Amino acid sequence: MKILTIHGPNLNLLGQREPEVYGPKSLAMINREIDLRGAALELTTTCCQSNHEGEIIDWLQNAGPEGFSGIIINPAAFTHTSVAIRDAIAAIELPVIEVHLSNISARDEFRQKSLTAAVCQGSISGFGATSYLLALEAFKLLINPATKE
Ligand code: DQA
Repeated sequence: MKILTIHGPNLNLLGQREPEVYGPKSLAMINREIDLRGAALELTTTCCQSNHEGEIIDWLQNAGPEGFSGIIINPAAFTHTSVAIRDAIAAIELPVIEVHLSNISARDEFRQKSLTAAVCQGSISGFGATSYLLALEAFKLLINPATKE
């Protein structure tokens, strides 16, 4: 099973960007953790990052035809602004899990509203880089419901 992880704008700066909020790990370190946990769960992982809304929408639309079975997305600031990304998630058949490093419910008022969460299967927020690993675990459990609690 192939899982696509999409990182949104400014996440390429992780490690140097507000480390007190987003943690000390670079995006390369986080992607490595995703790949390692994916391999342990027998999931094939691909990670990509873009600062451009349209490119993210193209990746969402192409994921199914390219053979992915699920998508993990951190839309970053687009979470709070992008009707277009929301519509793309709603338009595709694949299950999508929204993740955030920080707990967006505990932050500025404008970050507490996600335009995208309602069209995702679920969301995981506030566990730093572990949010992505929990999303992988969720996909694994969704494929093998027998192992679900
Ligand atoms: C973020 C939270 C967003 O509000 C913010 O714009 C980001 C990162 C997170 O992972 O905590 O860029 O999505």
